[in-house]
Amino acid sequence: MPENPITIAIDGPSGSGKSSVSKAVARQLGLAYLDTGAMYRALTWWCLERGLDTTDVEAVAAQADTFPLVIGTEPDAATVHVGGTDIGAAIRQTRVSEQVSHIATNLQVRATMRDLQRQIIADARHAGAGIVVEGRDITTVIAPDAEHRFLLSASEEARLARRARELFDTDDDSALAATHDQIVRRDAADSTVSAFFEPAPGVVGIDTSDLTFDQSVAAVLDAVEANAPAG
Ligand code: DC
Repeated sequence: MPENPITIAIDGPSGSGKSSVSKAVARQLGLAYLDTGAMYRALTWWCLERGLDTTDVEAVAAQADTFPLVIGTEPDAATVHVGGTDIGAAIRQTRVSEQVSHIATNLQVRATMRDLQRQIIADARHAGAGIVVEGRDITTVIAPDAEHRFLLSASEEARLARRARELFDTDDDSALAATHDQIVRRDAADSTVSAFFEPAPGVVGIDTSDLTFDQSVAAVLDAVEANAPAG
């Protein structure tokens, strides 16, 4: 077992840059990587495939306990499989994005995901140098004892423009309008169960509004280094 495994917890709203930054940080530090949002998306996809009403709290919670999720933790192979089916692309579909908040605000689902996520973190710390975990409640609920905790933020304008370019390859007015509903409505719903707009005490806040991707990665890496125990 490695001597001093680390966990780097990174939270933030949609479009804050946390997924790409988290992956790059994991790659550069030789750590595993966990996208917890992908887990909520996978359960959403599973429920939709079964024709379940995603607002049916009990029915969805029962699926969370049993659905056969296998999630890859290599930053360059963050695969998502359910029962042998590769759903890495399917979980990014609009129909999943539109419904995922129903699943993510289901408190029974969150309890199941919390246990799963903590197990994945424990396994990664046991097997290697540690893990970068990104989501909305990692710094506060899942891994409040993580060696390094960050909250990435960005202005609403910057977040919308980034996501519009990701989804539509442009940030013209119609792309911004189409993105607005997805980002703003979803974050408003999700923030009813997790606080991810402001850093909790002890969490380092990084505003990426005016930072390039490389600068955002460097900001996290510098803070990790500055916070590392001496020696
Ligand atoms: O980051 P993302 O868009 O892939 O997240 C998908 C959904 O899951 C989104 O609605 C926020 C929610 N989520 C959450 O509630 N807690 C997490 N730790 C990660 C994601």
